[in-house]
Amino acid sequence: MPRRILLLPGDGIGPEVVEQAQRVLIAAASVFNLDLVFDSADLGGVAIDKQGHPYPETTRSLARQADAVLLGAVGGPKWDSLPAAERPERGLLGIRSDLDLFCNLRPAILYPQLAEASSLKPDLVAGLNLLIVRELTGGIYFGEPRGVETSADGVRKGFNTDVYDETEIRRIAKLAFQFAQKRSARLCSVDKANVLEVTMLWREVVSEVSEEYPDIELSHMYVDNAAMQLVREPKQFDVMLTGNLFGDILSDTAAMLTGSIGMLPSASLNAESRGLYEPVHGSAPDIAGEGKANPLAAILSASMLLRYSLDEGAAADAVEAAVEHVLDSGLRTLDIANSPADAVSTKVMGDAVVTAISSLS
Ligand code: IPM
Ligand code: MG
Repeated sequence: MPRRILLLPGDGIGPEVVEQAQRVLIAAASVFNLDLVFDSADLGGVAIDKQGHPYPETTRSLARQADAVLLGAVGGPKWDSLPAAERPERGLLGIRSDLDLFCNLRPAILYPQLAEASSLKPDLVAGLNLLIVRELTGGIYFGEPRGVETSADGVRKGFNTDVYDETEIRRIAKLAFQFAQKRSARLCSVDKANVLEVTMLWREVVSEVSEEYPDIELSHMYVDNAAMQLVREPKQFDVMLTGNLFGDILSDTAAMLTGSIGMLPSASLNAESRGLYEPVHGSAPDIAGEGKANPLAAILSASMLLRYSLDEGAAADAVEAAVEHVLDSGLRTLDIANSPADAVSTKVMGDAVVTAISSLS
């Protein structure tokens, strides 16, 4: 049975990095005898321009049939003046919700080859390897009511609703405990239970779930402290579990600890492990089309796709080994290069990973 992969290149640098990630998947498929079939569709700004909607019906139907989806990035200044409900980002939120991708995995790994790229002192980040588990289809991103209203006396009011029910908390918590079991058996749940009722429930339910996982050492931390601890002593964390909004913020912080957001992949999974894989970085419109983007986050997202949705761990390991190999060989795109003169293009980086997969495997 062929496995169907839907490519959603999206906006900005999305198409450039997805192209390289697809080449890497094709190389891995040939080495590991995988039968992959690719489709491509529009999401985000490009979908608004071509089809008038950030998550068009054609994309929705292909996404529902796919075994996995590989996304580049969405958004850009061109669409910034659109009303909230019509922006490219709504396409991304739409597909996450439509496919019920409630479990977002954002690993932050510091490659030893890039230790100097971190904004923290090398000894604080050397060996850093943490996993943020972010709830992705609930919380304030999706809560109703939401909107901006003008009252009778002409005063505008904006509002959103942060809401989780216990089933949503329980299902993401269970997965976080299971990921902790495969790692160092420590889980830190992040909330704002000193102020927000919704996160008081979060803390209560996570504690209830912990009774099923006595082997895991659970701690709780308020989000403001967690933000501070991430830049003070990041290696105290292994797996961090949090809701949608806090996860959005903390995962960008964690990303920067590793030196380059251009290196970080993510996976968004549903209960059947079907998933959407995307680099953590955005569409970087300032460098779009110039061949300067780092394709490694997209390539490592493809590796997560092989591991989590296709259950092809050996192929995923080979992709990761190939990335390590090209970093060892000194190849750097602009974002991780010591000087612009040393930087290679998106395609040269992709070529090197493709070659390494074929020769290492
Ligand atoms: C992310 C992004 C998205 C989010 C935006 C683009 C909607 O920041 O994936 O972290 O806020 O979830
Ligand atoms: Mg974000």
